[in-house]
Amino acid sequence: MFKPSYNIDFDNNKLSGKTSWKSPSNIALIKYWGKKDLQTPMNPSLSLTLNDCHTITDVSYNLNSNGFKYEFFFENKLKPDFNKKLDIFFSRILDYFPFLNKVFLKINSTNTFPHSSGIASSASAFSSLALCLVDIEKSITVSNDFHNKASFISRLGSGSASRSIFGPAAMWGKTNLIANSNDYYSIPFKLSNFFKEYHDTILIIDESSKSVSSSLGHDLVKNHQFKSNRINQVNLNLKKLIKSIDENDKNEFSKIIENEALTLHAMMLTSNPSFILFKPNTINIINKVWDFRKSNDTSLCFTLDAGANVHLLYHKNDYKSVQDFIKNELLSYCFNGKYINDKVGAGPEKINLK
Ligand code: PMV
Repeated sequence: MFKPSYNIDFDNNKLSGKTSWKSPSNIALIKYWGKKDLQTPMNPSLSLTLNDCHTITDVSYNLNSNGFKYEFFFENKLKPDFNKKLDIFFSRILDYFPFLNKVFLKINSTNTFPHSSGIASSASAFSSLALCLVDIEKSITVSNDFHNKASFISRLGSGSASRSIFGPAAMWGKTNLIANSNDYYSIPFKLSNFFKEYHDTILIIDESSKSVSSSLGHDLVKNHQFKSNRINQVNLNLKKLIKSIDENDKNEFSKIIENEALTLHAMMLTSNPSFILFKPNTINIINKVWDFRKSNDTSLCFTLDAGANVHLLYHKNDYKSVQDFIKNELLSYCFNGKYINDKVGAGPEKINLK
């Protein structure tokens, strides 16, 4: 656990420079839904780190005699609409980065996928920004635990972002099943070679922003009628999923992750007030996947994020048959025929600036 740190002296001459990090999105197999207190999860979660859906964040920093200040650009355009979320993030992390009180940051982020579309753009956005901040800290003072701190800081922006720091899979939240697991930062999860070869094709059903934010959804779990059942179920699902991964059991894996996806949305349907994030075409695709599995021995299965889009997960040996299936039977359900082919990835990378 990281502690706030004050009274650290810096060489002011070092408070100027630039850094850039590329960080991926991730897709949860075991879902985080519901918080305990400030950005700690009600239950453990486990995700696959993606390879191609990522955010690149550049941060340049300069000494500022008037205290901390920042400007946020999205794809090189000044975007004050993101400031509300960023102000909350910075208010949570200032005490962990004393240097921030002396700098002006210019932040520019670029995504390779649409934000707020059911693809966890907040995960790649906050993790790439957190990596830049820990990197700046490293260049001006002694810092330990680079990745753990980056995950800890990412979590204070968006819980699922804490998992994007590690590839090919990450686990967040305390569970007796995994040593060193904790609620404050994610840890790498040892994925078998078989599952490292999984692909994720994201079928875009709806590109617009979510009608209900994840933050509101998490809040509604606090007094949810099924809260304790969900905690029991998720811990059991995690145990079974770890076993299926260890045994390379694709059928059991598919069963559990689909159950997790549908339970996530069932929790939304049964919140008070209720809300629905999937669309008719989400259901149409799920039915098609189930039909396909009835007549094929395949690794193909689906999962859902907090949105309408469908993530199809499958092993690389099934790549051709699944791509044919998508083109022949699923594209008509996608918004403008859009989909993104991605796969399990190795985690964030620092971008070398010339
Ligand atoms: O990190 P948040 O607060 O955006 O919550 C994300 C929750 C889910 O994406 C629905 C599940 C998960 O574990 O990523």
